[in-house]
Amino acid sequence: MLTRSVLVLASVLSSAWGELTFPPGFRWGAATAAYQVEGAWNQSDKSPSVWDHFIHSTPDLVADRSTGDVAADSYHLWRRDMEMLEELGLQFYRFSISWTRLVPNGFANVISEDGRRYYDDLINGLLESGIEPIPTIYHWDIPQRLQDLGGWTNPLVSDWFAEYARVVFSLYANRVKYWVTINEPSVFCEFGYGAGMIAPGIKDQDIGKYMCVKNVLMAHGKAYRVYEREFKGKYSGKLSMANHFMWYEAETEKDLEVAELIRQFQYGLYCHAIYSQEGGWPVAVEQQIADNSYREGYSFSRLPEFTQEEKDLVRGTFDYMAVNHYSSRTVRQQSSAEHIPASNQFTANAEFNATYEGKEDWPKGNSFWFLFYLLPHHQINPAGLRDLLVWLKTEYGDLEYLITENGYSDVTSKINDDDRVDYHREYLKQVLLAIKQDGVNVTGYTAWSLMDDFEWVEGYTLGFGLYHVDFSQAERPRTPRKSARYYASVARANSLDVPEPQDVML
Ligand SMILES: *[C@@H]1O[C@H](CO)[C@@H](O)[C@H](O)[C@H]1NC(C)=O
Ligand SMILES: *[C@@H]1O[C@H](CO)[C@@H](O)[C@H](O)[C@H]1NC(C)=O
Ligand SMILES: *[C@@H]1O[C@H](CO)[C@@H](O)[C@H](O)[C@H]1NC(C)=O
Repeated sequence: MLTRSVLVLASVLSSAWGELTFPPGFRWGAATAAYQVEGAWNQSDKSPSVWDHFIHSTPDLVADRSTGDVAADSYHLWRRDMEMLEELGLQFYRFSISWTRLVPNGFANVISEDGRRYYDDLINGLLESGIEPIPTIYHWDIPQRLQDLGGWTNPLVSDWFAEYARVVFSLYANRVKYWVTINEPSVFCEFGYGAGMIAPGIKDQDIGKYMCVKNVLMAHGKAYRVYEREFKGKYSGKLSMANHFMWYEAETEKDLEVAELIRQFQYGLYCHAIYSQEGGWPVAVEQQIADNSYREGYSFSRLPEFTQEEKDLVRGTFDYMAVNHYSSRTVRQQSSAEHIPASNQFTANAEFNATYEGKEDWPKGNSFWFLFYLLPHHQINPAGLRDLLVWLKTEYGDLEYLITENGYSDVTSKINDDDRVDYHREYLKQVLLAIKQDGVNVTGYTAWSLMDDFEWVEGYTLGFGLYHVDFSQAERPRTPRKSARYYASVARANSLDVPEPQDVML
């Protein structure tokens, strides 16, 4: 009797302790992107990327008219970045490779010696510190030379990207196990080639953004096939595109159908071709855009078709799924009276006549986040991450899911960033529920970002960093925030059952 009640008590206690603990082997990381931290925009033989060009030619489009010319100067300060990753006790670092630093012509005929050495040193430095490198091959910085030839709207870009990817693999695949091919096409296609708010600043909601999506999928597919044919046998690395997934949920019972269509649009346009059994576009989305196109007088669908051969090339080009997530929206069907034109897709989806909103009871972040599409303030809905993970598993299967970005922006001056601590804690609780209650195989979590950086059109007006960076000083000193203390203790314990972090005294 006694033994039995002791056992029951022990199991109750261990499940209480266990509740906040991640599975053994769960991995912790932090992320940055080349243009946002490296600086050294014109160092050595590097040529301008689309961001260098955009920032210098249209400075008014950036909140504080700043540039990424120097940014956090990680090109020179990467050893300090490495110390920070060690201070945090992380298992991996997700960074991106600058196309124009490594391959300054844009085309793969010339490799920059300095560019090659920079990423070589970075990767070797990480491995020496026991930190796994997870490189992103493309994080929004296509060579300006290629943009002058149409950039992501030129179908040949998929070959140009695959050649660049082959260079990257040939140099680094022997030391890399996890790759991200392309980061967040939904953001750079919709906002770079649709709304025109970010580089390259092209405003073409009807056609441009869809050409971009198709070409990105082809580029990812071709790069994956290069790896599969030439490198996988030797190195068995895993590849995924990283998508940006806002969680979209129905505003009322009446909106369940339109909310699902919006998920098929916002996720399916980028995932279905890769992760579904049949490949190509999600059927309902393909049909809707075709119908809208014919009604508007086009003789073809504004969403470019896939041939069967293209579908076969892209389908199945994944080894895991990289998930970036920050926030949630509600979706409702518009009344016919409020039809929102295609030029205004921040708050609405013109193909489906749907409006995106937030909920009264979702807390709002402190910073105004212009790029964070649709609603300016960060809508905080931790449960949305769990809902998203369950949706992805239901739709695409019991895959390995790696959270490759999640984080909170705030005014950069704040060092005791309790809101960011709360954000990571609450979102991580939902990751745990997805793992333990819903059986979603999430194998790791990446905080965006390791340090404050050049936040695209927000410039330096807000930061996501676990580390504060003082951009007013030439040395770009980095200071750990309270959230860095918290994240380090969570990563070390592999658990949320950790003491509250102490304030940082400066
Ligand atoms: C690089 O750009 C900086 C401005 O960010 C400029 O002052 C410098 O002269 C440029 N260097 C070269 C070699 O063009
Ligand atoms: C969207 O609204 C427009 C204008 O009211 C209408 O012509 C179109 O059929 C609607 N589309 C959908 C999918 O409801
Ligand atoms: C999750 O995915 C990893 C990597 O593919 C695999 O090793 C592990 O067995 C999976 N875990 C579960 C519970 O399916």
